[in-house]
Amino acid sequence: HIVPLVLCGGSGSRLWPVSRTDSPKHFHAVKGSNSLSFLQETVQRHAGGRMRDPILVTNARHAHYVRAQLDEIQVRGEIIGEPVARNTGPAVLAAAFRALERDPDAVLLVLPSDHVIEGDVNSTVHAMYDAAEDGRIITFGVRPHYPETGYGYITDGGPIDGYDGLHHVGEFVEKPPLDRAQALLDGGRAYWASGISMFRADTIVEEYRRLDPISLMAVHHALAHRSLDGNGLMLERGAFEKAESLPTEVAVFEKSGAIALAPLQVSWNDVGSWEAMYGIGTPDAQGNVISGDVISVATRNSLVRSQDRLVAVIGLENVVVVDTSDALLVASRSEAQKVKQAVQALNLSD
Ligand code: GDD
Ligand code: MG
Repeated sequence: HIVPLVLCGGSGSRLWPVSRTDSPKHFHAVKGSNSLSFLQETVQRHAGGRMRDPILVTNARHAHYVRAQLDEIQVRGEIIGEPVARNTGPAVLAAAFRALERDPDAVLLVLPSDHVIEGDVNSTVHAMYDAAEDGRIITFGVRPHYPETGYGYITDGGPIDGYDGLHHVGEFVEKPPLDRAQALLDGGRAYWASGISMFRADTIVEEYRRLDPISLMAVHHALAHRSLDGNGLMLERGAFEKAESLPTEVAVFEKSGAIALAPLQVSWNDVGSWEAMYGIGTPDAQGNVISGDVISVATRNSLVRSQDRLVAVIGLENVVVVDTSDALLVASRSEAQKVKQAVQALNLSD
């Protein structure tokens, strides 16, 4: 059996002002109102077959959102609440310990909740199950098309005997600088790390024991001293704070000999920025991606999104306009990644 492990504790600050500290991206509808949220789509994508009920790890403050969103799609699942954010490594570790309490042979399927995916992921996942059971850490890769510095890269080290579709990993490089990303792309053997991975719960625990025993103990104690509330189990703060704040990719994947690559044949988008949001939208004849109550005149190749009032744009090109009830973003599409800086300034002035 496979236990889907949904990570939904990030802040998604590059999609401000729709994504807020109090209401991050993954809780929002993917394509405007009335559609499922990123989180709900992720949960639904990985149900049935060998999949058990999911474990979801989130910031304790957001546990109620996660529960409400699961109820809406009638999925049972276990929620683990983090008292502080320690990046994805400790989140994955907490879920691994919890899964082991119920099943010493549990296989985890790690799923970020901030992607839009079209195509079939589960058949590849199921095909890799045996390799995961045998102790491999399987990272699912997608074909890269530009030197994005915000992703992990996996280089293909050739097929692994005895496992159809599984490849050795030359190297795993998390978020390389631009020149390195370009070199990896030029090398022709690199994949983007999709953020999806699969391994036995005890495999990741063993790798942590070897590579970062302090975080291992911290998370173990945080789970042992958990409390329960109506939404799920809450990790103990004092212990959890002592875990190193690192993504799984840096804590383990870059260093582990157990790592393997399984290419996915899907259309995949991280939607980590307004530029990416523009990319998944359906442009009108002027190349505009518009949602909400918007009037556009002589405007081209722009993203214009309004939540609850009328927005008019005139004579704009390659611009992002995102209006919410209490904040408005106006940015050039090419610089929209820098909204992160605006959010940082905002947090400092709080
Ligand atoms: N529970 C929990 N706690 N979840 C977290 C935390 C945390 O502290 N931090 C992030 N997450 C969640 C996010 O909500 C998201 O669903 C997922 O974990 C990945 O986190 P991101 O912060 O979005 O990571 P990234 O996009 O920069 O990088 C990852 O994804 C890339 C592809 O989109 C890495 O896996 C890269 O290697 C990968 O290429
Ligand atoms: Mg992401």
